[in-house]
Amino acid sequence: MIVLDTLRKSFGSRPVLRGVSLRVPKGHSMVVIGPSGAGKSIMLKCAIGLTQPDSGTVTLANTRITPASRARLMPQTGVLFQGAALFDSLPIWENVAFTLLRQMSRARARAAAIEKLARVGLSADVADRLPSELSGGMRKRAGLARAIANEPQLMFFDEPTTGLDPVMAGKINRLIREVVTELGATALTITHDITTVQTVADDVAFLCEGKVRWTGEAATLNETEDPKLRAFLAGRSEDE
Ligand SMILES: Nc1ncnc2c1ncn2[C@@H]1O[C@H](COP(=O)(O)OP(=O)(O)OP(=O)(O)O)[C@@H](O)[C@H]1O
Ligand SMILES: [Mg+2]
Repeated sequence: MIVLDTLRKSFGSRPVLRGVSLRVPKGHSMVVIGPSGAGKSIMLKCAIGLTQPDSGTVTLANTRITPASRARLMPQTGVLFQGAALFDSLPIWENVAFTLLRQMSRARARAAAIEKLARVGLSADVADRLPSELSGGMRKRAGLARAIANEPQLMFFDEPTTGLDPVMAGKINRLIREVVTELGATALTITHDITTVQTVADDVAFLCEGKVRWTGEAATLNETEDPKLRAFLAGRSEDE
């Protein structure tokens, strides 16, 4: 469902992606971990066609991503960006209902948005507030409500639990797992949060220095012999 093949991307003379390849089968939930600055968010932006890689290909649902095919695939795709990326001038419910507003009446879209907000633990009274009137964690959850609003078959989540307290993080992890299972969707989640790996992942990929260094089933992560991955999981640098 998601195939990244040898993606390369440099900014100026600095390579960020150095040949990233990754496959996520239909219905699977892949979680990508890796150090800050490793290129995780750029990989996600290439995957959804928002950033053009210098070389390599992206195939989503058997369709090679080009500017034209991207427009066709976007309605089946939900994305939560690392910074939530809400529209500042629109109230929360219109942010969440952004794609729904093209498909149904305002009243129905609003009701659907309020229902999605409830799923991420936000009450109806935030519906009419502007993004600037919410806390960082609340904005993150509103972004997640938007990502799942039209029940997409493909979902991308960049740091879904950053800035949330442990209880809310647990709730969001379970919600992601639930929507993937319920919708039979395919998901790619980026995280620093090991509880997200435990709850959300079927498979894990470790992105390091612009390459996927390790990939495998989530259950086998702790048995890895890769020294860089072991050090990363233990929270130290390799030479410590
Ligand atoms: N538009 C851009 N122009 C120049 N450099 C960029 C741009 N976007 C990202 N980079 C650089 O690419 C590298 C990878 O960035 P990216 O956001 O993918 O990291 P990340 O793995 O998501 O890190 P984090 O865990 O901190 O979110 C960084 O060094 C960053 O400075
Ligand atoms: Mg990032």
